[in-house]
Amino acid sequence: MSLSWILLVSLVGLGRPLPLWEERDALLELEDSRRVGGNIILGEREVEANKNLMKIKEAEMGQAIKSGLFPPSMHFFRAREHIQKSKVFSILREMPKGGALHLHDFAVVGVDWLVKNVTYLPDCYICFSSAGNVRFIFSSPAPVGKLPPGCSEWILLETYRKKLGDVTEFDGSLIRNLTLLTDTPELDYPSQDAIWRRFEGVFIASSGLILYAPVFKEYIYESLNELYRDNIQYVELRAMLPPVYELDGTTHDRAWLVATYKDITNRFKGDHPDFIGLKIIYTVHRHEDLPQVKEAVHYAMQLMSQFPDTMAGFDLVGQEDAGHSLYQMREALNIPSKMGVSLPYFFHAGETSWQGTDVDENVLDALLLNTSRIGHGYALLKHPAAQEMSLKMNVPLEICPISNQVLLLVSDLRNHPAATLLAEGHPLVISSDDPSIFGAQGLSYDFYEAFVGLGGFKADLKTLKQLAINSIRFTSLSPELKDKLMDAWQKKWDKFVEDLAKKTWEEQQNMM
Ligand SMILES: *[C@@H]1O[C@H](CO)[C@@H](O)[C@H](O)[C@H]1NC(C)=O
Ligand SMILES: *[C@@H]1O[C@H](CO)[C@@H](O)[C@H](O)[C@H]1NC(C)=O
Ligand SMILES: *[C@@H]1O[C@H](CO)[C@@H](O)[C@H](O)[C@H]1NC(C)=O
Ligand SMILES: [Zn+2]
Repeated sequence: MSLSWILLVSLVGLGRPLPLWEERDALLELEDSRRVGGNIILGEREVEANKNLMKIKEAEMGQAIKSGLFPPSMHFFRAREHIQKSKVFSILREMPKGGALHLHDFAVVGVDWLVKNVTYLPDCYICFSSAGNVRFIFSSPAPVGKLPPGCSEWILLETYRKKLGDVTEFDGSLIRNLTLLTDTPELDYPSQDAIWRRFEGVFIASSGLILYAPVFKEYIYESLNELYRDNIQYVELRAMLPPVYELDGTTHDRAWLVATYKDITNRFKGDHPDFIGLKIIYTVHRHEDLPQVKEAVHYAMQLMSQFPDTMAGFDLVGQEDAGHSLYQMREALNIPSKMGVSLPYFFHAGETSWQGTDVDENVLDALLLNTSRIGHGYALLKHPAAQEMSLKMNVPLEICPISNQVLLLVSDLRNHPAATLLAEGHPLVISSDDPSIFGAQGLSYDFYEAFVGLGGFKADLKTLKQLAINSIRFTSLSPELKDKLMDAWQKKWDKFVEDLAKKTWEEQQNMM
């Protein structure tokens, strides 16, 4: 039993007359101490910074109560422009965030870059499928016999654009193809299955661009740049490592991709010495059958021994409800422990609304399989045994509020289960899953939703500090590199705190 519970039990003693008003302050204090960050003791400058932060936050939230316009309770596609105007958001953008621990390989760089730069490179072909999708390929000579389903011909984009009246409108349509953005999400995505189909279609559409070797290398660099600009110091990327191709159609294998991630990250670190690095969590699609998952587990172990500093571990991806459960895949997932080999797991688990299905039990099975972190864990609250295990094993949940909302698990983010977990002080990190596809960027938008939507009026600088520290503590880095990351983050944090503490009353007024 924790100290706070002993306190609670002794406060609410048996046989006492109710109500116990004299205990109210102590109970509120107890709740404050249990919240994520509740035990952090702020330094002198942090106290000043926190006062300024909370003044600004309370003003914005107070305004929202009056106007009824509260971004976390709106669909992110509509909330986005309001968040961009928020002063709290602009502070969160400046905040050093530590590690981004739940991101997917090809959903990081803003798609503007893909459309406005990459599709203008020479030898880029497009095809329009009968289903209204687009596919891309770089090829020289012209591609033959490689038509995706529903496509009748490859058209050189350069030629196609020359014949167009309105290129800007066309490029806009390509951007829409590569994101989920729309003004009418409720109409366009009537069900979880419908949006997941579109979502996976987006990955297929962009893969023709990103998997072209010269673009792939630039995409990695741009990803790191995008995260760095959002004040992130480190990233663990879930990557499927599909074949990367050259202009003549030859392809590279998974080991080449990992080596390339490593090289490009080193180049980036050379250009930005205060960035600590990148690690890869190798992933396979959960619709694959047992033999394929077994092969992937073996390959993951091989990559781990070949690239011990770059590889972090293994995970399964794709719509959980439509794929195999972890339990169904147990024969594959038990292989490392049977062989006495360590393969850290970072399972997506409990990204579902369906209580009591096999898939819903993934949260429990992930923990039984000794997962290092849980991706989403949206269903955790429905599994008290799993919740206790995750607490006892100190296995954090990677909370991605915008992803959960866009993919239709929750509409008003004040009702997200992580609001409860945040209040209970459960180990959590905040991440963004697929920011470029949702029209977000880095982690700042998700931090805004978490800080304002999940945390309400109570979450403060202590909450933010704890979330950043969690994102460092729960990385797969060695203790030495964790210290290095912590030092790099602390330097930036001190500067962030100083700037926030120095905000004068006039500046705050101008901000409002
Ligand atoms: C994808 O691009 C094509 C070609 O411009 C367009 O016809 C289609 O409407 C776009 N799809 C979406 C979802 O915007
Ligand atoms: C455009 O992309 C190419 C290759 O992907 C890259 O070499 C170039 O630097 C990019 N330019 C800009 C302005 O981002
Ligand atoms: C659980 O995973 C961690 C991290 O991969 C590892 O160090 C530990 O040995 C594992 N424990 C068991 C019982 O497999
Ligand atoms: Zn994910």
